[in-house]
Order: sequence, then structure tokens, then C-alpha cells
Amino acid sequence: MRILITSDLHYNVARSRKPTRALAERVCDIGGDVLIFAGDIAADDPKYFDDVFALFDGFEGHKLAIAGNHDIWTTGGADSLERYRTELAEIFARNGVHYLDAAPFYLGETAFVGNMGWYDFSFRPSALQIPLRFYQEKVAPGAAARLGNFGGLLTVEEDVTDDARAITTRWMDGVRVKLPMSDVAFTSMLAEKLRDHLQQASTRAEQIVAILHHLPFAELVPHSVLPNWEFATAFHGSEMLGEVLLEFEKVSHMFCGHIHREKRCRKGGIECMSIGSGYKEKAVEVLEL
Ligand SMILES: [Fe+2]
Ligand SMILES: [Fe+2]
Repeated sequence: MRILITSDLHYNVARSRKPTRALAERVCDIGGDVLIFAGDIAADDPKYFDDVFALFDGFEGHKLAIAGNHDIWTTGGADSLERYRTELAEIFARNGVHYLDAAPFYLGETAFVGNMGWYDFSFRPSALQIPLRFYQEKVAPGAAARLGNFGGLLTVEEDVTDDARAITTRWMDGVRVKLPMSDVAFTSMLAEKLRDHLQQASTRAEQIVAILHHLPFAELVPHSVLPNWEFATAFHGSEMLGEVLLEFEKVSHMFCGHIHREKRCRKGGIECMSIGSGYKEKAVEVLEL
């Protein structure tokens, strides 16, 4: 069985379109039994999803997808959970794409299991000495000072160092994602769904390929000497997801996206890889099982 995995096509972003079209041609040329989109497919107007999926009409195998954080971005305060559960399910269904967040997919003795995953700040870089409340609001101290409406985060001053105040990152999920629960609760919900789907798959299949958008293992987190980039690692994923994966011995592979950089590691019996698709360069990984 030949499985192709790509990620982060970001087709609503102008500079991502040409490289995505080139990638789609390559994918259709390679061909295979299964093609997986590991999240951040598009954002905003659903037509971007229809347009990008149409590029892969020439691929004759099964198409599977999970959501990414950008896929649940909304405008005007609309509910991202509704987008995640209902709107994306409809968009994927009308494009002939199986939505893995809703249910596993089976082919022969192999199961494909996964979902978007989320972040619970377990990967936040302690060396920056930034209090948790800033991560919860998705703004670094320098951004909180600049933006004005996060003044409450800075009223206690003694736990915010001068170095921390020089960090100006803002994670844009804080503006574009509206959830009716905390990030930690959302991560727990998705980790529990992952466990449920892995339990189902373990009874039906001999081998499991897992797909997530956010990272399940700290070994895949890309680190930087630049504090503005380091701050962002808090939003890369959750160790809770990895702990769930390691409960299931039939999981042989795990692919994720989100960080736009290729990294690999092995955890227990699982070969892990983040697909290195960025805005301007798209990647596809070919797995022969
Ligand atoms: Fe992305
Ligand atoms: Fe992402």
C-alpha cells in the first residue's frame, strides 16, 4: 500500500497557491492508495477548500484529512467548535474527503486514526520565565504592553522580567479561534477522542497509522535562539497526545504538520515525522506499507 502525506497547504494564502498547485501535480503523478492532508488546508471562505481539493481530482486513491488550527479560524466571533464539528465535515464530505476527526478510516488490515490535536502549554519554554497567564491569552509580555487591552496581565509586575517584556509575539489563534472552553479542556477533549478512535481501531486492524496536526512529542518541537520564536513553541502541541499514542502498540507511524519544518524521531515503537510543508515550499512524504 502506498500512502502519501502532505500538510499545511494554506490555500487561502496567496503565496501558497503556486507551490500547492505544483505539489498537487506531483502527488497525482506519484499516485497511491491513500492521500492524507494533515491540517491547515485553508482558512476563511469554504471556497478555498473546494478549490484546493479540486487540484487533487486526478489522485485515484482514498483521500483523508484532519483539521488544523487555521481550518477552524473564524471571523466575527463565530464558533470555532461549530466550524470544527459541522462545517468542516460538510466541506470535506462534498469533496470526497474522509474526515478523520470524525471517524477512523480502514483499508485492508490498516487503520488511519487521528485528529487536529491542540495545545495545553505543556511545551512552553520554561527558560523564558514567562508566567502561564500570558500563554493562556496567547500574547507575550511585549505584545501585551503594545496592544493595550491586555493590561491586566501586567498589573503584577514582579514576575515579568525585562527580557520577557522584550518578547513581542502574538499567537493569532488568540484572535481567530473562538472556543467555548479553555485550550487545556479542548486538548483533553481531543486526546480523549484520539484514545476512543485508537481503541476502536485496535480491535479492527493489525496496524495503525496516526495523523495529528499539532505535535504529540517534545522531540519534534523546533527550538530557536530567538525568544520570539521560542514563545510560540507553547502552541505547537501537547504531551497529552503523545501519552495517548504510546498506549496503543499497533501504532507504527505518526505524521503531523503545523511547524512547517521536517523533523523525525522515534518514540517507543512509533516512527514519527512532522511534514515540512511551509507557506512557500510544499512537501509530501511517501510511505510504502
Ligand atoms: Fe500551518
Ligand atoms: Fe497549524
